[in-house]
Amino acid sequence: MSVLPWQLLPDNASTDSDGRLSVGGVDVIDLAGEYGTPLFVYDEDHIRSRCREAVAAFPDGVAYATKAFLCTAMARLAVEEDMDLDVSTGGEIHVARAAGVPADRLIFHGNNKSIRELALAVEIGVGKIVIDSLTEIDKLDLVLGRSGTRARVMLRVNPGIEAHTHEFLQTGATDSKFGVSIVDGAAARAIERILSLSSFDLVGIHAHVGSQVFDVTSFSKTVEVLADFVGHLGVEELSIGGGLGVPYVEGESAPTITEWGAAIGSAANGAGIDQRITAEPGRAIVARSAVTLYTVGTIKEIPGVRTYASVDGGMSDNPRPVLYGSGYEVFLARSTRAERDREIRLVGKHCESGDVIVWEGRVPSDLALGDILATPVTGAYGHSMGSNYNMVLRPPVVFVRDGRARLVVRRETYDDLLARDLGTLG
Ligand code: LLP
Repeated sequence: MSVLPWQLLPDNASTDSDGRLSVGGVDVIDLAGEYGTPLFVYDEDHIRSRCREAVAAFPDGVAYATKAFLCTAMARLAVEEDMDLDVSTGGEIHVARAAGVPADRLIFHGNNKSIRELALAVEIGVGKIVIDSLTEIDKLDLVLGRSGTRARVMLRVNPGIEAHTHEFLQTGATDSKFGVSIVDGAAARAIERILSLSSFDLVGIHAHVGSQVFDVTSFSKTVEVLADFVGHLGVEELSIGGGLGVPYVEGESAPTITEWGAAIGSAANGAGIDQRITAEPGRAIVARSAVTLYTVGTIKEIPGVRTYASVDGGMSDNPRPVLYGSGYEVFLARSTRAERDREIRLVGKHCESGDVIVWEGRVPSDLALGDILATPVTGAYGHSMGSNYNMVLRPPVVFVRDGRARLVVRRETYDDLLARDLGTLG
């Protein structure tokens, strides 16, 4: 028996006396009725409050990592809350610009930026380009030469630290596609080359050691490793990247953004760093702000084996369980606080046995066809990593606040599926 751990829900979640869930003062079952399912419901004030916490924890500057969740409303919100934006593709730049975000608030990442993307970044004047490789120095040099401009750059270094997280989410170990390694001397060579180029303005060093990291010592170790390196350079900024983990299931706990900032700040003080210390969280800003709503369409009991509950989404709106074996909780939106004494495997509607949303889920025993099931903590890397597999329509996104709902991304339509299909043959 277990009830849903309340702390996995958005800040402004509440229930009525029957346990029916509201977020931001809006009944989620009503939302499912109005917008259909699957549906991403984001608690806008929750996101704003995490942004404010991040801005306070990193007073020298903090960027929101848009890869976690991006649409124009989100980009505007983050900038309204005084965050810069970490973008890592031409597409993310495009959406941020469409939201009216000033280019100088963009920090451009990526381990394989194309010449075209670099040219776009230079043309619009992004705030900083984070150089990820020796190859990229040459590419950017070419682009700057053509346009006759200069760029403010940071260098992404690889400090040789293995953050405690899933192997696919580690980025700071020596064997990584990201960044130039301090350990093998590539970072020193990159610095030398950058400093020799008059169109490059080296303003800082960047390191991002992994994502969904619970242990703040991975970050403080990074700061310590980088202290020597940045100390000699005379640059103004050290960015520690993102990566703070969040709890997804019962029994997990993670440091707050405030605690994360404090640990990094004290490591920087201890190491005598006088550079500006900045960060770029994604998951910690948005993950817990959202729940995904699904409708139960099929219940299949296999005696002595298990019960499958199938819903109308799946790996196309949340690929994390399939990609990383990530755990999620599930609950019944009409009985949020009920004992969950029935074991189910929550699966999607894709033609794939691995299309699992919750491997070992628990729901109240009266689960019925047509019920609205919800998964919490789906605000990061769900919508943004969604797909059209099986031509399933990507879900809409609703922001809720003060008893009002705003549709910020509409549901995909069957016509959208054909929008790029030219039908040419033979
Ligand atoms: N900065 C850089 C350079 C990054 O590569 C990332 C994430 C972040 C910041 C933000 O990290 P966060 O605070 O969100 O952990 N799809 C995976 C996560 C991939 C993270 C990629 N980079 C997942 O669903 O767990």
